[in-house]
Amino acid sequence: MNNWKDTLLFRALRQQPVPRPPIWLMRQAGRYLPEYRAIRKEAGGFLAMAKNPQIASEITLQPIRRFGFDAAILFSDILTIPDAMGLGLFFSEGEGPRFSQPLQTEEAIQKLRPASLEELRYVMDASVLTRQTLPAETPLIGFCGSPFTLACYMIDGSGGNFWRTRQMRFSRPDLLRRVLEINTISTAELLCAQIDAGCQAVMIFDSWGGLLGGDEYEDFSLSYIRHVVSLVKEKSDAPIIVFGRRCGLMLPALAACGCDAVGVDWQTSLRMARRMIGGKVAIQGNLEPAALLGTPDIAAAAAARVLADYGDSSGHIFNLGHGVDKSTPPECVTAVVETVRANRSH
Ligand code: CP3
Repeated sequence: MNNWKDTLLFRALRQQPVPRPPIWLMRQAGRYLPEYRAIRKEAGGFLAMAKNPQIASEITLQPIRRFGFDAAILFSDILTIPDAMGLGLFFSEGEGPRFSQPLQTEEAIQKLRPASLEELRYVMDASVLTRQTLPAETPLIGFCGSPFTLACYMIDGSGGNFWRTRQMRFSRPDLLRRVLEINTISTAELLCAQIDAGCQAVMIFDSWGGLLGGDEYEDFSLSYIRHVVSLVKEKSDAPIIVFGRRCGLMLPALAACGCDAVGVDWQTSLRMARRMIGGKVAIQGNLEPAALLGTPDIAAAAAARVLADYGDSSGHIFNLGHGVDKSTPPECVTAVVETVRANRSH
């Protein structure tokens, strides 16, 4: 895309003046959309859809067509990397992700190797195809999980409180570090490959870094994120967004990791986030997803409060504080998009 630098997303990421903030939503493609559910029924489940570039690309486009978001995020998952490492990702109906071969012995961790990008070819194929089909003015965002967030799923084998991973941090930090180092290589490689395949920006999801204590956050999550960011920046100038869930107190440190923007969840007000970040990087967020579960009026009013909370300046990318919930009425998403589009105070 040649006019990418003029898009609202790029301008906001660079903290340049914008007529209104760009808007896109984490999990903007998903089960709340009837058109997604229709394809899912045919395709036989989430993983089959994510691994089929035609389908993944079509699903990426669904929310762009319906709502006209200012950015698309590739339809895929952070857990494709450990799946490609041979851990056997699967989803059973009504449950979160699981691995058939989690890292539950020292031997399994010693044997772990970075994922081969060949095993992840479907992600890049979907990026190329999506870039070809997306409107030229809509940037495409690629993504990965943080090394620590991936390690949580890989070691525990499923979502939850991640007791095994948290215990390993005390009992065998050397083993945990080995997993984190391998994840650093794989996530950086995948982000670079997504950029080569047509993504204009990338995002790192640290959904579980907030489980770590203050000093441990630097040691077991942020230092690896910083390394991923520097490896990607060596190869490309694509903007990098880092989202840390329940990481409010870490925002100043996150903002200094070399990224271009930080994603903020709803526990930290944007007013506070701005004060903590001091204009160093752009800010993405942070409407509570539950605000979209009632009526369009309620959703619109809540979105207006987020806009007001940020205030009238550039450097804001409107988003939720976490993903769109599956029971969200699409009309509430429309109401949020309209509220942000009508906002002229920026
Ligand atoms: O944001 C987007 O629309 C892009 C696609 C995307 C998905 N997962 C699709 C998905 C992205 C960026 C992710 C990231 C992801 N995946 C994270 C980090 C963000 C976060 O939510 O904290 C995590 C922790 C995962 C792991 C994962 N994958 C979980 C916990 C689940 C179950 C969630 C659920 O709602 O059941 C998944 C499956 C998944 N990934 C779905 C989607 C749309 C649900 C798929 C379905 O059942 O149809």
